[in-house]
Amino acid sequence: MKAKAVSSANIAFIKFWGKKVPSLNIPFNNSISMNLSNCLTKTTVEFRPDLKKDMVLVNKKTMSSDSYQRVVRFLNIIRKMARINYKAKVYTQNNFPSDAGIASSASGFSALALAASTAAGLKLNKNRLSALARLGSGSACRSIPDGFSEWRKGKSDESSYAREIFPVNYWDLCDIVAVVSSERKKKSSGEGHEAALTSPYFKERQKQLPKRITDFKMALQKKDFELLGKLIEEEAIDLHLIAMSSKPPIFYLNNHTFEVIESLRAWREKGLQAYFTMDAGPNVHVICREKDVVKVNSKLKKIPGVNFTIVNYAALGTRLI
Ligand code: PMV
Repeated sequence: MKAKAVSSANIAFIKFWGKKVPSLNIPFNNSISMNLSNCLTKTTVEFRPDLKKDMVLVNKKTMSSDSYQRVVRFLNIIRKMARINYKAKVYTQNNFPSDAGIASSASGFSALALAASTAAGLKLNKNRLSALARLGSGSACRSIPDGFSEWRKGKSDESSYAREIFPVNYWDLCDIVAVVSSERKKKSSGEGHEAALTSPYFKERQKQLPKRITDFKMALQKKDFELLGKLIEEEAIDLHLIAMSSKPPIFYLNNHTFEVIESLRAWREKGLQAYFTMDAGPNVHVICREKDVVKVNSKLKKIPGVNFTIVNYAALGTRLI
């Protein structure tokens, strides 16, 4: 009753921000993302009759009590599905610095979903696995399929999951994460999702999203990088506009975030195409084409507020190893 899985984090181009059914992580809107080749989590799960309680180690360390309880709740769902009551040993290793302020919940819960369900003897297809991962962390459902995926919001636990919309080698997009802060964020994405509904701009974004999603898919379909860049920036700005106008307000960005944004805008004036998006944190995901990756990366590293960068290409989804 043991299995090991690897999974990548993903960057959302169209974001999940606001939960329609919080207990099931069912979102208000569809979201679209790309898996990140260099932000990986490997997880081993073993269910054992001799354990009195679940044992969870992340990068060889025990977790905070809140995070541990979240993993136990997730394991309980799998135990119920598989009709077993053995406790588990869970070992997780992130290849990116776990204090880098990069969300590890997507790679973490997708790897855990596959490793734990396999160890428990369940054989779930990709759609069911994606729906299961969603219960751990919404965005984790998008790390299950390969390459570029769309999470269709669905109406129920079974119908809310992500599928591949384009394969890994579809387009040579890169995501260079410019890490400007390694601190753990003060407000979790869970708190952000809840607060989002109190922003007057929440409804406005929902109104605009159907067109933005159609346009974004067209940008992908036609490989129109300029249109893609414009739309992902609009979407990132909207997320932070909503966070900052939530009651009480949430500020995820810092002055270094804006240093990076300003630099990108100046580089674009000179013809270098690179665009930004941010999740619920200050680090900037800089999206560029492969032909520009060396140049953009070396320029990013020269910005004083950038501590380090992580270069990613589109990656496979969650798999057993
Ligand atoms: O999966 P969660 O609950 O951590 O929410 C993810 C929220 C964002 O990263 C900001 C957006 C997204 O769609 O990934």
